[in-house]
Amino acid sequence: MMRKHWIGGLLALGAAAWIVGCSLPSKSGSTVKGVVEDRDGRKVANATVWLIPSADVAAMGKTPIEIKNDAKNDEPLEDNLAANRERYTKGKSGANGEFSVAGVPDGKFFLYVEPADATYLPGGDKSRKSLNTADLAAAPVTIKVSGNIPADATYVGTTKCLSCHEEQETFTKTLHRLGIQVIGKPSKLQDYSRFPNYNDGLNKLMAGTKFWFHAYDKTRSFDKYQISDKEPADPASVSFIATFFKDTDGKLKFRTENAKDAADPARVYTVDLAYGGGVYKQRYLYRVGPNLFPFVQYNQYGDNS
Ligand code: HEC
Repeated sequence: MMRKHWIGGLLALGAAAWIVGCSLPSKSGSTVKGVVEDRDGRKVANATVWLIPSADVAAMGKTPIEIKNDAKNDEPLEDNLAANRERYTKGKSGANGEFSVAGVPDGKFFLYVEPADATYLPGGDKSRKSLNTADLAAAPVTIKVSGNIPADATYVGTTKCLSCHEEQETFTKTLHRLGIQVIGKPSKLQDYSRFPNYNDGLNKLMAGTKFWFHAYDKTRSFDKYQISDKEPADPASVSFIATFFKDTDGKLKFRTENAKDAADPARVYTVDLAYGGGVYKQRYLYRVGPNLFPFVQYNQYGDNS
């Protein structure tokens, strides 16, 4: 008697499912299948593949971000996922990296991978552009994930990288590389050949130059002093003099003399670094204790730009 009832109940349920399935076919959803692998094609097991609705990402984009640690809306994929783990559709990759997500509704989704451990980084290459359910379901999707930096990794410099990646040698000619230089000791990774005028200013200072800082005006925004390489007509307008020279130790130095106070002794500073020179100007950084300060700047165009 009990058993009969139970079967009857099951049949009724089946019929209900059949009716729902038939009247609303799209609600049954599509199946998105694919494989998670790394850049070398190694299959990534036990990774969770989440489908993050692009509508949620767009909606989050319209909310004002509160600037603080762990803001709840500054990482569109991660923050939407954190808030909707119970709701979002997902699948898990098996030992062969293959995954299958059933019941995917119509819409647009980012495929976001959460790896099982720290071997791989989260995200994956299908997390940057959302795709339609129809496109996702049309053929198996290959998701590439990036490897994580191993915990025991140690720092190596660019020289090491270039020993294998010769094709990246041009990097040594970019302003990223050239921007800061140790005076008198250019690195082997600094190739100035693309910027023939790069060190015009530095060369002038090395050759020996004397500057008069005069006509102080505190209302001028950037340069409070005017700098002249000749003594100004009105010597009383001079505040101090800076004389650059290459010392016997090969270093660039400058001596300052206080024109307003003869009792103030001259001081000598070493210029440790030059900063810039590829675009418009180069600056010279001298050290006082642990800090570096820019002093004069040289403009290759000879104007105020
Ligand atoms: C011992 C040789 C070697 C050294 C040293 C080396 N690499 Fe590589 N690197 C390779 C090889 C080989 C590949 C290609 C791997 C592959 O495609 O699976 C590669 C791939 C890469 C890629 C991916 C390139 C792409 O187009 O996908 C990047 C980025 C990279 N290396 C950066 C670096 C950096 C930065 C350093 C220095 C910290 C470095 N490499 C040092 C051999 C080296």
